[in-house]
Amino acid sequence: MEKFILFSLVVLFAAASEANVKSGKSTTVALNDGTEIPVLGLGTWLNGSDPTSTQKAVEVAIEAGYRHIDTAAIYGTETHVGKALQAKIKDGTIKREDMYITTKLWNTRHAEDQVVPALRESLKELQLEQVDLYLIHWPVSFNENGTFNDLDYVDTWRGMEEAKKLGLTKSIGISNFNEKQIERLLKSAKVKPVVNQVEVNPNLTQKKLIQFCKEKDIHIVAYTPLGSMPESRAKNPNAPAPKLDDPILSAMGEKYKKNTVQIVLRYLLDLNLITIPKSSTPSRIVENIDVFDFKLTNEEIEKIGKFNLDHRSVPVNDWKDSKYYPF
Ligand SMILES: NC(=O)c1ccc[n+]([C@@H]2O[C@H](COP(=O)([O-])OP(=O)(O)OC[C@H]3O[C@@H](n4cnc5c(N)ncnc54)[C@H](OP(=O)(O)O)[C@@H]3O)[C@@H](O)[C@H]2O)c1
Ligand SMILES: *[C@@H]1O[C@H](CO)[C@@H](O)[C@H](O)[C@H]1NC(C)=O
Ligand SMILES: *[C@@H]1O[C@H](CO)[C@@H](O)[C@H](O)[C@H]1NC(C)=O
Repeated sequence: MEKFILFSLVVLFAAASEANVKSGKSTTVALNDGTEIPVLGLGTWLNGSDPTSTQKAVEVAIEAGYRHIDTAAIYGTETHVGKALQAKIKDGTIKREDMYITTKLWNTRHAEDQVVPALRESLKELQLEQVDLYLIHWPVSFNENGTFNDLDYVDTWRGMEEAKKLGLTKSIGISNFNEKQIERLLKSAKVKPVVNQVEVNPNLTQKKLIQFCKEKDIHIVAYTPLGSMPESRAKNPNAPAPKLDDPILSAMGEKYKKNTVQIVLRYLLDLNLITIPKSSTPSRIVENIDVFDFKLTNEEIEKIGKFNLDHRSVPVNDWKDSKYYPF
């Protein structure tokens, strides 16, 4: 009898914690290599501000139910992500295999034989044996002194395939690639990229690129999902709507008891995109993942899509002279 009660309790507890994870937090989607990725993750690009805030942000995020963290060698945050993961593994909140960790190859390491060493450096910073996803950050290649060179991303991709073969990453993908570049990559790739990580938000809806990637079975990870909404970007005189207090988004927010940021994140998820909002503010980290208990109607999705102006928040205009400039 006692045994039975104990058994029932264990079953109940397991069911409760599973329900928790589901209502929680982020659902997952399958990628073209059979792996699963949580559809919402935490971004960690700090754009020059103090990277040490990242450790706290990642710890808060993990406690709030995030299981997907996006970083890159160039962000200077890998080491802080690594410390947060170790802390949360040590205190029993997560196991390594619960987490989905993405990092990216910087533009100065595009030589085929540089990819594996660059990833090994990232793994050391992250204190990991393997990441879940490694991306070519940009199709554009730099020399160490910042000038462009013509190293071809098709050759870089062979280095990516080697990194996967060595087990240093489970999956490989690309970021900031345009349609032509993807088409060209697919011609010689042995392994297909699982995702293309690009800017998508109400002002840059990327309809064509999204459709193209869908046809190729490549998922889109939407970066800078909030577009011009955050104060840091809204103050730019050219920043387009919507802003945080946008009346259209606010009305939808009232209907669903959500704020305008949550409406925009839900919009991206409802388009079947994966997204990675960044925040270093604990209350925002928590509210940004609280978007799995409602869905927008098709009409609402269309209405938000009308904000499109093809306005880029991350333009990299200085790179126009590169042979592989994507925009
Ligand atoms: N592959 C690429 O080339 C590339 C390029 C850009 C970005 N990314 C990735 O995508 C991630 C997200 O993009 P992003 O950082 O450019 O922009 P974002 O996530 O759209 O916006 C981040 C900004 O929004 C603010 N914010 C977040 N949640 C908020 C909320 N609930 N209410 C009000 N403000 C809020 C943040 O402020 P606080 O932090 O102060 O709260 C921060 O200033 C990056 O961190 C990075 O991981 C990749
Ligand atoms: C990023 O940093 C640059 C230079 O400091 C600044 O002009 C820009 O507004 C910042 N962007 C964001 C989104 O904070
Ligand atoms: C930058 O580095 C490249 C490759 O090493 C070299 O060819 C080029 O002359 C350098 N340019 C400048 C301005 O230093």
